[in-house]
Amino acid sequence: MRIYQEADYDAMSRRTAAIIAAEVIRKPDCVLGLATGSTPVGAYRQLAAWERGGLLSFGDVTTVNLDEYRGLGPDHEQSYRYFMRTNLFDQVDIRLERTHVPDGLAADPEAECRRYDALVESLGGTDLQLLGMGHNGHIGFNEPGPAFVRETHVVDLAKSTIEANARFFAHRDEVPRQAITMGIGTIMSAKRVLVAVSGADKAEAVRKAFCGPITPEMPASILQLHRDVVLVGDVAALSGLREAGVLQ
Ligand code: F6R
Repeated sequence: MRIYQEADYDAMSRRTAAIIAAEVIRKPDCVLGLATGSTPVGAYRQLAAWERGGLLSFGDVTTVNLDEYRGLGPDHEQSYRYFMRTNLFDQVDIRLERTHVPDGLAADPEAECRRYDALVESLGGTDLQLLGMGHNGHIGFNEPGPAFVRETHVVDLAKSTIEANARFFAHRDEVPRQAITMGIGTIMSAKRVLVAVSGADKAEAVRKAFCGPITPEMPASILQLHRDVVLVGDVAALSGLREAGVLQ
């Protein structure tokens, strides 16, 4: 695993964007696995600035997002499709028909999960999968549990996830209780995984994920088994790794 320790959120965002940009420049028709949440916002802003400046083009890029809330449509301001449009897709020259997010309104969610897995497979998997990490170690919305789930599936969100995400909604009660998420098998099939973390509140999860036992109770710990992981974090988020002696 390669670790980039950056001074703060902005530097972490630039590094994350640089790694994504390098992939797009190396392989203009690459398949990017993308994440939502607070962490990647700065990286998406940086990528949009570089695209406007002519440094790279998303014209031939395909994207697949990790997850979507169940019950929220693409025009709902808190849906992940809406997030992606606002933070990246509408800001760059990507072709919207090449962007994919699970359909949170699918009448048959199980069929939607199968469709999503078939889609990712038909694309040949992701070249680079961007991940954030929940305080409880979730990746995508693979919450801690008794077993890793391989495929895209419907998940009941953990109480702590609902609470963490309530900041984006007017009321806690409005936070959806379920999501559709890519499974651990699909995430692990990415050729390269890029994990971005920021803030002291993530330090404990980062330490457990990369220094603790590999267990579905800490879903991100499975990344220890991936052969090409890049971890980008600010000093605060990586403090647990320094305490564990993994970093200086
Ligand atoms: C988002 C996702 C989640 C987030 C995680 C961290 O698509 O899959 O796993 O990456 O909840 O969220 P932030 O970045 O808001 O701390």
